[in-house]
Amino acid sequence: MTTISWLFVPADSEKKMDKTRFVDAGAFILDLEDSVALSAKPKARQLAREFLEKSALAREKLWVRTNPVDGPYFDDDLAAVVPAAPGGIVLPKVRSPGDVAELAARLDVLEREHGLEPESIRILPIVTETPEALFTLGGFASCGPRLAGLTWGAEDLGSAIGATATRDVNDELTPPFRLVRNLCLFAAHAAGVPAIDTVFVTLADFAELDDECDEARRDGFSGKLAIHPAQVEIINRAFLPSAEELDRARRIVELFDANPGAAVLEFEGAMVDLPHLKQARRILES
Ligand code: COA
Ligand code: MG
Repeated sequence: MTTISWLFVPADSEKKMDKTRFVDAGAFILDLEDSVALSAKPKARQLAREFLEKSALAREKLWVRTNPVDGPYFDDDLAAVVPAAPGGIVLPKVRSPGDVAELAARLDVLEREHGLEPESIRILPIVTETPEALFTLGGFASCGPRLAGLTWGAEDLGSAIGATATRDVNDELTPPFRLVRNLCLFAAHAAGVPAIDTVFVTLADFAELDDECDEARRDGFSGKLAIHPAQVEIINRAFLPSAEELDRARRIVELFDANPGAAVLEFEGAMVDLPHLKQARRILES
């Protein structure tokens, strides 16, 4: 089943990691990257490792965001957390599918060394944080079975291109970042994996978060990153089909069942054809 809510948890905070026991997120991302100060990286690695070893949560739920492949912290991050068998690695500042291949090759070796099942550690790359990555987005299908989805980020890309903001006064994405979100959506579907929407950082605005989740689900995203426990419940709820949607989907499937051999039909004053049937079945299966 697709993971809907992914909560970032700064790994230098024992208190926040401990909080995961009370939060119903699909996955927790113990963060070693941007939420951890340079001076706290060693401590965060150590705490993440200890937490992975002691947490009673299913390992598929426990992910780690390492630092980027091409930076100075990557080797130490992997060496610290892989022996404790996280469910997956969130890889930031990806420049191309080659970075995912590089991580996969490193995991192949480390899994063997530590007696872990081959290809058991999955990968969720953040594929829009560098300008050059945008021109490689069609290539993630080659990443193999470790690829758990694609997600995107606006802040690092914004700073890379000198954008003064990524959202307007109403907290809506500006056109360049709307484009990037949409490209991630299509890149994920081209690779046959779930598209996961980026974080919404205004902590107190739950109504806007709810709207953003609805838009993301409407457009074909399967879930969303979160930064605060209070966002998780909203995300979980928003990505499930509503009672009305389920009812409508059921009636479309029944209509086609009642008209065997028909490829196009009239349903409540509108045309429905095979893509509508496929979408209705998808909703009923979700
Ligand atoms: N994961 C787990 N627990 C969290 C949490 C998170 N991401 N964010 C907050 N909490 C905990 C707090 O520690 C606090 O616990 P307490 O009730 O035991 O004191 C409780 O939830 C309420 O938190 P609150 O006081 O509302 O927020 P805060 O001021 O402590 O933290 C942030 C605000 C933004 C610093 C915090 O939410 C955070 O660190 N988010 C993740 C940031 C991150 O990882 N960014 C990188 C990806 S973009
Ligand atoms: Mg970042």
